[in-house]
Amino acid sequence: MNRSKMQSRQWFEKWYSGKEKVFAWNIGRPHKGLVEIFDNSPLKSGRVLVPGCGFGYDAIFLAERGFDVVAFDFSANVIKKAKLRTKAKRKLKASLKFEVEDIYNLPDSYHNAFDYVVEIGNFQAMSVKERREYVRIITAVLGRGGRSIVICKKYPPLTPGPKGIKKSSLKKYFSPAFKIEQIEPVLMYRKSYPADGLRLIAKKK
Ligand SMILES: C[S@@+](CC[C@H](N)C(=O)[O-])C[C@H]1O[C@@H](n2cnc3c(N)ncnc32)[C@H](O)[C@@H]1O
Repeated sequence: MNRSKMQSRQWFEKWYSGKEKVFAWNIGRPHKGLVEIFDNSPLKSGRVLVPGCGFGYDAIFLAERGFDVVAFDFSANVIKKAKLRTKAKRKLKASLKFEVEDIYNLPDSYHNAFDYVVEIGNFQAMSVKERREYVRIITAVLGRGGRSIVICKKYPPLTPGPKGIKKSSLKKYFSPAFKIEQIEPVLMYRKSYPADGLRLIAKKK
């Protein structure tokens, strides 16, 4: 799958039409690399933005843990499915909104409105230009001292699909505007693979 296909809205809409299936990135549960952070953290509340949220497992997990979450994806098909799943949940301790938005064209209301941005599996598929733009956008949506969490595939890739990102490149993209708190190896999607991903936690300066 090449990058232009990865990033076309029509391509994702087609992928997300029909019945939900477990495939590539859809593991049918919140990402372990995310759960670990909040299992081991005293943080219990805050406003979280989840860009490119897919089926919404990570967003629902965060709302169950008491975070106020806005999650968006540019695929209307997948947002419809995420909303249906939320309706079936009774354990949410905080607000959870799913919206259809494009990461590169976010509403002004997102500006300075979040304590965390949790991004999983998107950054790795962006071009250099888009990654720079993404960092600029999340810097704008985070309030003072807000944290960016990115879970992405590492380079050189150990698994099929996008090539991934070097640890040094992650540092380069984020360090001008963020204090890097952690870049750790994580398992990206499948248990049978080695730790093929990286988890960044960075605090806005
Ligand atoms: C590889 S999937 C990861 C989905 C989810 N984060 C997960 O880990 O299960 C990338 C997601 O980002 C969405 N996406 C890609 N480009 C986007 C954009 N420009 N704006 C909003 N969502 C986008 C896709 O529709 C897709 O759901």
